[in-house]
Amino acid sequence: MPKQKWRTINPSGRYRVVVTKELPGKRWLKILTAADCRVEISTLSDVMSVEAIKAAIGDHCDGVIGQLTEDWGADLFQALNAAGAKVYSNYAVGFNNVDILAATRHGIPVGNTPGVLTETTAEMAVALTFAAARRVGEAERFLRAGQYSGWLPTLFLGELILGKTIGIVGAGRIGDAYARMMVAGHRVNLLYFDIHPNQALEDYVHAYAEFLQDQGLPPVACNKVDSIEALLQEADIVSIHTVLDKSTHHLINARRLALMKENAILINTSRGPVIDEAALVKHCQQHPSFRAGLDVFENEPEMKTGLVDLDNVVIVPHIASATSWTRQGMATLAASNVAAILQGYPTWQQDDIRPFLTGNGPPAAPSILNARELGMPSY
Ligand code: DGY
Repeated sequence: MPKQKWRTINPSGRYRVVVTKELPGKRWLKILTAADCRVEISTLSDVMSVEAIKAAIGDHCDGVIGQLTEDWGADLFQALNAAGAKVYSNYAVGFNNVDILAATRHGIPVGNTPGVLTETTAEMAVALTFAAARRVGEAERFLRAGQYSGWLPTLFLGELILGKTIGIVGAGRIGDAYARMMVAGHRVNLLYFDIHPNQALEDYVHAYAEFLQDQGLPPVACNKVDSIEALLQEADIVSIHTVLDKSTHHLINARRLALMKENAILINTSRGPVIDEAALVKHCQQHPSFRAGLDVFENEPEMKTGLVDLDNVVIVPHIASATSWTRQGMATLAASNVAAILQGYPTWQQDDIRPFLTGNGPPAAPSILNARELGMPSY
């Protein structure tokens, strides 16, 4: 196990806050020091084990900012409770690595960082869509390998996106943003699968369809489908935007992949285990004109055997939210969650978290996932 290394900010602060990775920007540290926190930051890039985090929490700790790569289960919430901690914030919008029920049982509010990843992640889904459709990775590898000997009518033929049908699985914040970018940018038709209707998205597509008709262009359509199977069968491009939980684990499996069009494109910027990765590898091996664009993997940082050898798959290392603005915004929100709870502030109940990103921010915790269960006051 690597020996932990730490740097401490504001050593005389009243509240001891442990941060398990360096975070970008400076604002988050200002928020914590203004709230009288002593901040201890792990400077190693290795993922911290449960044992290492427990050791860091020690006998006394008031709050922690942790990572999506860590296993925040009952053990750690028990340790936090025993150390007198009042709050944990995940440095992520996703929280499949956190046992919220266990946190609630131990009386620990759990924060996350919604609102600042939406467009950034959707943009990566768009980038992967185009990279997969137009074979960007494959063509770049070919060029770098010195194999390009001149323009050819048949070199790297890909798929045109204009006018195709996209299907989004999960029409929450990020799915909605991806759909809008694709519909308005590339005049695609939209299918979506979600338990909840997204009326605002439907209205947006219908208004855009009217605009197109006014321009003498073919309109676009938007339909909510009742089954994922219907979406997979009809869509040319499928983009996954669900949370990961028991109901979405291996949502895309061999049977469902087989329903997709021969030359379909599958994009995943949500969580790796939503796709049965071994089944996807097999499907891509057997269907060379099928394409996938993946930001996330089933057992990160590993990938299933065969995936890296596939030319019809574009892969990036879980960087969909990796812009400076977003990652600094996530740090601001995680620090604001911790600082607010330590100062006894209520929780923010509005969807729009932008007021936290500039100035002093409201006297509230921007996003506490188990606020209601813990009976916390709202702002
Ligand atoms: C999140 O915040 O859940 C993202 O996966 C980070 O990129």
